Amino acid sequence: MHSEYISLIRQSLKARKLSYSPYSGFKVGAALLGASGRVYCGANIESASYSLTLCAERVVFSKALSEGEKRFRAIAISVSSNDLVFPCGACRQFMYEFAKDIDVIIAGSVTDFKIVTLKELLPFGFERKSIPKKT
Ligand code: THU
Repeated sequence: MHSEYISLIRQSLKARKLSYSPYSGFKVGAALLGASGRVYCGANIESASYSLTLCAERVVFSKALSEGEKRFRAIAISVSSNDLVFPCGACRQFMYEFAKDIDVIIAGSVTDFKIVTLKELLPFGFERKSIPKKT
């Protein structure tokens, strides 16, 4: 388990290099481990029309989902900052739709990381059950 997560961190660090972030200069890489054992990699993609920016987490989930992966075990996220930085609120909610019990590994390097659960980051996420049934 531990070595699997170290490998995931390595892949997120590699993915970070492909970040397209000319506006913020803040590079984020993500590596997502699917239940199939496949790993999907992604990075943040910015836009001159700032609000169209895609966070690394949403990029990597969109890649995996659109390739048929349905369940997820862990995501490693690495940022170009000296501090460990946790996913934004929008990405927490986006991930919650597909991976309520996922482990989230926030990494600065393979020796500097924190593992939390998505439930810890988003204890009362909005979900399908939250929407009242039509009568
Ligand atoms: N960003 C992510 O990729 N993930 C997050 O959870 C927070 C922010 C990106 C978006 C933007 O390209 C840059 O970081 C600065 O906000």
